[in-house]
Amino acid sequence: MAASSNYVIEVRIDVLKTLKIAGLATGAIAAIGLGVYYFHQRTQRAKRVTFREEVKHILEPFQLTDEQLRRVMANLNTEMTNGLRSDDEREKNDLAMFPTYVHHGPSGQEIGEYLVVDLGGSNFRVSHVNIEGRNRIRLNNKIFLIPHSLLLGEGDKLFDYIAECLQRFIDDNKLALHKPADYKFDLAFTFSFPCNQTSLRQARLVSWTKGFSCTGVVGNDVVLLLQQAIDRHKGLNIQVVALVNDTVGTLMACSSIYRDCKVGVILGTGYNACYFENVDNVPKWKGVRDQSRKQIVINTEWGALGKHGCLDFIRTSVDRELDESSSTPNQQVFEKMISALYLGEIVRLIIVDLVQRSILLPGRMQKTPSLRSDYNIFLILRGSFYAKHVADIESDNTEDLSVTSSILTSIGIHDPSYDDCYLIREVCRTVSLRAAKLAAAAIAVLVNRLNQPSVTVGIDGTLFRHHEKFKKNLARTLSRLVPRTHRLVLSEDGSSKGSALVAAVDRRMRETGFSS
Ligand code: GLC
Repeated sequence: MAASSNYVIEVRIDVLKTLKIAGLATGAIAAIGLGVYYFHQRTQRAKRVTFREEVKHILEPFQLTDEQLRRVMANLNTEMTNGLRSDDEREKNDLAMFPTYVHHGPSGQEIGEYLVVDLGGSNFRVSHVNIEGRNRIRLNNKIFLIPHSLLLGEGDKLFDYIAECLQRFIDDNKLALHKPADYKFDLAFTFSFPCNQTSLRQARLVSWTKGFSCTGVVGNDVVLLLQQAIDRHKGLNIQVVALVNDTVGTLMACSSIYRDCKVGVILGTGYNACYFENVDNVPKWKGVRDQSRKQIVINTEWGALGKHGCLDFIRTSVDRELDESSSTPNQQVFEKMISALYLGEIVRLIIVDLVQRSILLPGRMQKTPSLRSDYNIFLILRGSFYAKHVADIESDNTEDLSVTSSILTSIGIHDPSYDDCYLIREVCRTVSLRAAKLAAAAIAVLVNRLNQPSVTVGIDGTLFRHHEKFKKNLARTLSRLVPRTHRLVLSEDGSSKGSALVAAVDRRMRETGFSS
């Protein structure tokens, strides 16, 4: 018995011992595990913090203060005044400030039927516009794709293609039916590139912008080129009666609704504005000066600001890189910091920089170059990241940043980590905010120049139409920079309706004895 009880005791003692040792060991292991875990966490966090610091450092030059914006405003204002004074190339003015031969907004009495060809943005459109009095405009349009080869090939081919599309549009909509045999359609040509006009119907292209580069067009009258292509096309009875920049179309369409609308802006593929200026403030104006033409719409072409260095104080190395690798180095410097054609590319270049510093997607490119060729395409290919991606990513408020993650996956960046998504969203927000602030600074200059109790600004273009955050940032900055009452209004189909209105106003004026 005694022996067996001893045995029991011994066994008990052993069990207790084992339990104790096991407990200690587990505790020790747990402690070590926790220690390792916390150590790992700390280094990770430290790593993340340094990454964030480095990212902050890289993004800092993109963060503009109001003081910098006011300096941009002052420079733009000076360049506007200089541009209005003279066209002399020796003066090295940044802005063309083209007089457009449009002196009047719509009176509400315009009527008529017009064709409009709209070339210059992301789309090429043909429209049939019926103006039936104040605020009664019917529009029917069709978007045609322009083969990329035409944008880079011979100009004549591009204009022939436009004539062909016009023919198709007229046939498909049976527009010539019930018209007398000698009926000629009046056509307004919305051509959104810098043109030096010598009348409403004569306009020499100064340079291509926005990635277009057809040969044989620069230096020539684009109205004539279009008219000749139309005339080559037997059976097309059309006369081109007006050349209109998209900003002018936007202004006209908007001012037919809002009496105080004096500014037209496009915030899309390109960035530009026009406004009503007093003829007295345009020393270089060589046209008629009389009581009925006290004002004239000026196409600022302000996308060209910075050509002679006045924006160097805010340009970053990324802006320079983008500019130097573009087809138009040192041109459209301001536009390249703002418009939809370039926003995605700015973000892409920053991402590439962050990848090269192993801050983003660490080690991924080196490890799997052949397997992930689409991933490399994103990193190598210019223009492979769009403004739409910037807009969608910057407004991604999902907890796990799933929107950002799926966009990145769709463009070839597979399985990005949460940190990758977070940083890329940060980059998108910064670049987009800078663009909105700069866009606002420019509009502020015009609103101030107009010096009126209230100003309505008519705006069209993808950035304003579809990019909610951009729009909010623009409005917020503008309110800070302009004490005057102003409002920003979306101009629907401005560049087509407004161009028809330009032609209609001109017809009305000519019928009442004025020439343009
Ligand atoms: C570019 C063009 C300009 C146009 C703008 C918006 O800046 O040079 O004429 O108005 O884009 O399309």
